[in-house]
Amino acid sequence: MSTQREFWNERFGREGYFYGIHPNLYLKSHIDLLPSSRSLLFLGEGEGRNAIYAASLGHTVTALDASDIGLAKTAMLAKEQNLEVALIHTDLELWNPAEFYDAIMCSFLHLNEPLRTEVFEKAIASLNPAGVFVGEFFSIDQLPKTTGGPKDETLLYTAEELRSILESAPCSIIELYEMDTDLNEGRGHVGIASVVRMAVRT
Ligand SMILES: C[S@@+](CC[C@H](N)C(=O)[O-])C[C@H]1O[C@@H](n2cnc3c(N)ncnc32)[C@H](O)[C@@H]1O
Repeated sequence: MSTQREFWNERFGREGYFYGIHPNLYLKSHIDLLPSSRSLLFLGEGEGRNAIYAASLGHTVTALDASDIGLAKTAMLAKEQNLEVALIHTDLELWNPAEFYDAIMCSFLHLNEPLRTEVFEKAIASLNPAGVFVGEFFSIDQLPKTTGGPKDETLLYTAEELRSILESAPCSIIELYEMDTDLNEGRGHVGIASVVRMAVRT
């Protein structure tokens, strides 16, 4: 069993939805910009809140995660709402993208290097022309805060280091910035948090 699977299964094995059932607001703002009937992949999607929202708008949606319990809860939410979400159960260390997507998105995907760069490169290479890759991540400024996120700076992001990954990739940056935002996401992310927001287009 991979470490990620074990860690996140323990968290998602508890009652309820740890980050709630409503989409992350930054991802939602980009999902809402998409034309109808796009194909979307959510990386590290956990219990499925973003995937369910995108599916409810009629998009073709896939959720990938290392946690089979998170994916089972995604499937349960989808069934309750009569929606379809395809599932990929894998650790991103083993991810071999087999399809192309119009959008790939992730919220609070805590990856350290070199996996972070590898996943970003694979995600951008898996986009259709004019596809978008969108993410919100905890920034290094989140380290002392108690409003969510890992207490391990190798898992936290800066806009500057993301810029250096993205500038070497075949994409153009739509926006990339750090800010403080007021999170209200289940019991996992609550209060003022420091994030990096990123959107790029192929
Ligand atoms: C903080 S949670 C966020 C979940 C979801 N994106 C959300 O915002 O509700 C991080 C998620 O990333 C997944 N994850 C972390 N590292 C991973 C890896 N190496 N491969 C696949 N999934 C991973 C975890 O299983 C977990 O579901």
